Amino acid sequence: MAADVRAGLTKPFKELSPRYFYDERGSELFEQITELPEYYPTRCEREILQLHAREICAAAGAPATLIELGSGSAAKTRLLLDAMRDAGCLEAYAPVDISEQITRDTSEAIAAEYEIIVHGLVCDFERDLERIPLRGPRVIALLGGTIGNFEPAQRASFLARVANLLGEDDHFLLGTDLVKDRATLEAAYNDSAGVTSEFNKNVLAVLNERLDCDFDLDAFEHVAFWDEENLWMDIRLRSLARQVVNIAALEMHVAFDRGEEMRTEISTKFARQGLAGIYAESGLEMAGWWTDPSGLYGLSLARPAR
Ligand code: AVI
Repeated sequence: MAADVRAGLTKPFKELSPRYFYDERGSELFEQITELPEYYPTRCEREILQLHAREICAAAGAPATLIELGSGSAAKTRLLLDAMRDAGCLEAYAPVDISEQITRDTSEAIAAEYEIIVHGLVCDFERDLERIPLRGPRVIALLGGTIGNFEPAQRASFLARVANLLGEDDHFLLGTDLVKDRATLEAAYNDSAGVTSEFNKNVLAVLNERLDCDFDLDAFEHVAFWDEENLWMDIRLRSLARQVVNIAALEMHVAFDRGEEMRTEISTKFARQGLAGIYAESGLEMAGWWTDPSGLYGLSLARPAR
């Protein structure tokens, strides 16, 4: 984290990785975001699973272990687990998450509810992907639109690593938010209750706590806008004053001009064709595609390119 933050804050256009949003408070705020009227992705993904989980299982084929990257409380996953169980396709479940407590709770709950083997894994799935014990056939799922928070190069290398891991009978199930009108997108990241703003600023609280900094959260404001060239929501913090922040753990000072913006997250939006191209470049091919009835969000099933 120290190296990452130092690198990000010494760039001419400062940036912080979105992975640092998620301490306990950040995870709580994200849960609140998923229930906001303006934030449609979570509801849409749930709707797709409600409507199409059986088809998704059928497309994935043979009985499989479901490995869920960034599983959290696995709220929506139960829809998939139900469909897999009903189709006689559920062998085991492996929730993978950075939070030990959540992974323990989820593992225990699913093991009791489904009476299957649950192998919970506490790790950073992006860093530790190859260390996740995998026995086929399996479906690796990355839901929630998290892939949208990866930089393009990071996304390409992650997908190539997934492609490398998948055997012939394995599948990758990916949730992606879709390109749509600016107003809908910008409303989803500028909610009227201000939860997204609090979530965004929480990264500064995490830095204060972990790197002994003195960021004043009131001295920054939340900014989120649609970048139609890059097809992503650009999420930033804007300094409201000229200020110098002390980062004691890194023995450094960081100066911000008044109005200076620092990127804290991108949230890329996709279209079916574009995603098919991204898969192809990573050695994957799309084997299935489902959207919610309004076409706001997509779930795709991919397999190693043949
Ligand atoms: C976790 N991720 C998919 C969310 C998103 O929509 O990109 C994070 C988020 N940031 C602001 N609101 C939600």
